[in-house]
Amino acid sequence: MITFVKGLEGTLIRMQEDPEARYEFEIWFDYTRQAMNLIREGALLAVPNFASEAAASHRSILEVVSILPLHYGLGDNPQGYPGFVVEAARSAARDWEEQEHEPTEDVTKIRCIAIPTNLEIVERNGITELQEESNLPMIGAKALLLDTPSTEYVLNSGLPVGVPTFTVGNLVRDPQVGVKISAEDLLRTHFAIFGFTGAGKSNLVSTLVDKVMQAYTLMEPPPDTPRENVKVVLFDLMSEYSVLLADWLVKAPDAALLVLTEETLPEDVLQFMEQPSNETFSQALTALTQTTLYPRALIGRRSDFRFAWRRLLNPKSARLHLYREKPPSLGRLVERHWQPRGTLGRNDAAIRQAVRNWVITHYDTPFDEANARKLNDWIDEMFENGLLTTNDAREAFTALRAAVEEAHRRYISLRHVNDAYQMTLGDLITRLNDPHTSGLYVVQSHDPDRLRDFAAMLGDVMFENRRKSGKISPLVVFIFDEADEFIPQRREGADDSYARSRFVVMTLARRGRKFGLGIGIATQRVRYLDTSIMAQPHTYFVSKMPRQSDRQAIAEAFGIAEEMFAQTFKFKKGDWLLMSHDAIGLEAVPVPIHCEDANQRVEAFLNQLKSEWQRSREVARTRE
Ligand SMILES: Nc1ncnc2c1ncn2[C@@H]1O[C@H](COP(=O)(O)OP(=O)(O)OP(=O)(O)O)[C@@H](O)[C@H]1O
Ligand SMILES: [Mg+2]
Repeated sequence: MITFVKGLEGTLIRMQEDPEARYEFEIWFDYTRQAMNLIREGALLAVPNFASEAAASHRSILEVVSILPLHYGLGDNPQGYPGFVVEAARSAARDWEEQEHEPTEDVTKIRCIAIPTNLEIVERNGITELQEESNLPMIGAKALLLDTPSTEYVLNSGLPVGVPTFTVGNLVRDPQVGVKISAEDLLRTHFAIFGFTGAGKSNLVSTLVDKVMQAYTLMEPPPDTPRENVKVVLFDLMSEYSVLLADWLVKAPDAALLVLTEETLPEDVLQFMEQPSNETFSQALTALTQTTLYPRALIGRRSDFRFAWRRLLNPKSARLHLYREKPPSLGRLVERHWQPRGTLGRNDAAIRQAVRNWVITHYDTPFDEANARKLNDWIDEMFENGLLTTNDAREAFTALRAAVEEAHRRYISLRHVNDAYQMTLGDLITRLNDPHTSGLYVVQSHDPDRLRDFAAMLGDVMFENRRKSGKISPLVVFIFDEADEFIPQRREGADDSYARSRFVVMTLARRGRKFGLGIGIATQRVRYLDTSIMAQPHTYFVSKMPRQSDRQAIAEAFGIAEEMFAQTFKFKKGDWLLMSHDAIGLEAVPVPIHCEDANQRVEAFLNQLKSEWQRSREVARTRE
C-alpha cells in the first residue's frame, strides 16, 4: 500500500529530455511554509502516466532534485526602479510568512525539478504494486508526495533479499526514512567517497566499516545458509584509524593494527614489545595515548583510549603487530642482486662459475648475522683473487655488497620484538583467506612509500592467489583513504612506489570483482586520480566539491547530470549524495542521506570499556 501526504497536490508543468537522467520534470506546488519544509531534495512524487487505463492506474515515481520558491511579483531576476524592487520584495516576504498551512495567494509557487526513478505504482482492484515504469507521466497531471513509510518502502524495494544489508544513513529531508544498502554489492563492486577536505570522508569510512562488520558478524544469516565472512583491509596513510576504528580493532572476531615500520611507533611501545613487563606496559600505554592522532571531537577522551590500547597491546591477545619480512636466503640474495652489466673480461666463465657455485651451495642458507658475514667475506675474496679484471666485473660485486648492506638493515638490524607482536605477509594472507571469521586489518606506516609498496605486494599476492586457486571467498575489501596517494595519474616511464601501487589497485578494480576482491577509495582530489579508476566503482558517496572540474569528472564517470550536485552545496558534515548502480534500491538515482558520526560511536565504546573496567575493579575490591 502506497500512501501520500494529505492536502498537498502539485501539477506536472513541463517535461524535457535529458541525456543523463532520461527526462527532467518540472512540478509546481502551491506555496505554504509547511509544504516548503516537506518537499525537499530526495522527496518522492507520484504522477499518473500514459499507461493508465480504466482497470488500473499507473503512476510514475519521480525524485525531487532541486526546489525553488517562486514569487510572480518578483520574477527570477529583479530589474527596474530600485525602490519598487525593494518594495515588491518586502511585500513578497509577507506572502511567504502569512501562508503557513493554507495557500491563499496565486502569486507564490514552489517549483521543483525532478528526475525519473524508473519505477511506477500500479493500482488494480485496490491492490498496489511497484514495478518498472511502463510509460511517461502526463503533463498537467496531479503530483502527490509519498509519505514516510511509502518513501522508505520505495527507496529500499529494489534490494536483493537474503544477503547482508544495512541502513547506511537516513534521508536528509526525513530522518525517519532509513536507506538500506547491500553490503556485498557495496564491497564487491567497489565504492568511492568524494568530498572536500573536512567533509567527513574518513569519518564515513569508519561508519561504513562499522556497518559492514555489524552486518557480517552480528546479524543472523537466513536459515540453512552458512554465515558469510568479510575481511576489511584499510591502508591508513594518516594513522587516524587506530582511533576511528578503535572499537572494531578491539572487538572484531579477528583484527590487527599492522605497523610496517618501527619509526611509526613511539620508543616506549617498541621497548615494551621487546620485553613485555608490567612497567613497560604502562609506559607503552602512556606513549600510545599521547602520540596518537585524535579528531577534535575526541581529544577530550584521550586518556580513556588507554582502555582500548590496553586490549591491543596485551601480549596474550595482541592485536598490534610490527611487520616482519622473511629474509631471502643467501643464494637467492646473490641470484637477485648480482646482475653484471657489460663485459667481465677474460675471466667471464670463471666468475660466472664462482657465482653459480655460491648460489647453489647457499640456496637454502638463511640470511642471518653470521651468514651475512660469510657472504661479505666471499665478496672480499672475489675482489682479491684476481678474477675481476674489468670495471663492470668489479661494479657487479660492489652493487652486490650494497644489496647485502641494505638487506642487513631491512632484515637483521631490526629490533627483536616478542613473537606475539610480529606479523609476516604470509600470516596476514592466511588470515585474509580464513573463511571462518570476519576481520579488520588497519595498515599504517610513517613512510608513504612503504605503505604503497606493501599495498602493491599484498594486492598482487591476493589477486594471484585467488586467480590461481579459483577461490572467491571470503570477500576481501581493500580501502584506500587519501586514494590519490595510491592511484595517482600515470607518469610515463616512472617506476616507483606510486606506479607499483597504481598498477595493482587498478588490477583489483578491473578484475578483482569476480574473485571476491573489492576496493574502496576516498579522496578530495579527484583530478589527481588515474582517470581510468573513476569508472570502476559502482557506488559513490559525494559531498561538497567546490571545483566544477571535480564535479564534472564524477558526473561523467557515474553517468549523471552535473547539476545533480547542486544540492551538495547545502550539505552539512555527514550529509552525502549516495548513488549506486547496484547496491541500493534505486538504480543510479542519487539519494541525499545523512550518516551518523563515527566519533560518537567510538565514544560510546570507550564508555563501555571504562565501565567494564570500573566494574571489574569493584569486584576485585569486594573480594579483598
Ligand atoms: N557524520 C558526521 N557527523 C558529525 N560530524 C562529522 C561527521 N563526519 C565528520 N564529522 C566531523 O568533521 C570533521 C572532519 O571529518 P573527517 O576527518 O572525516 O573529514 P575528511 O573529509 O576525511 O577530511 P580530510 O580531507 O582532511 O581527510 C571530524 O572531526 C568530525 O568531527
Ligand atoms: Mg580524511
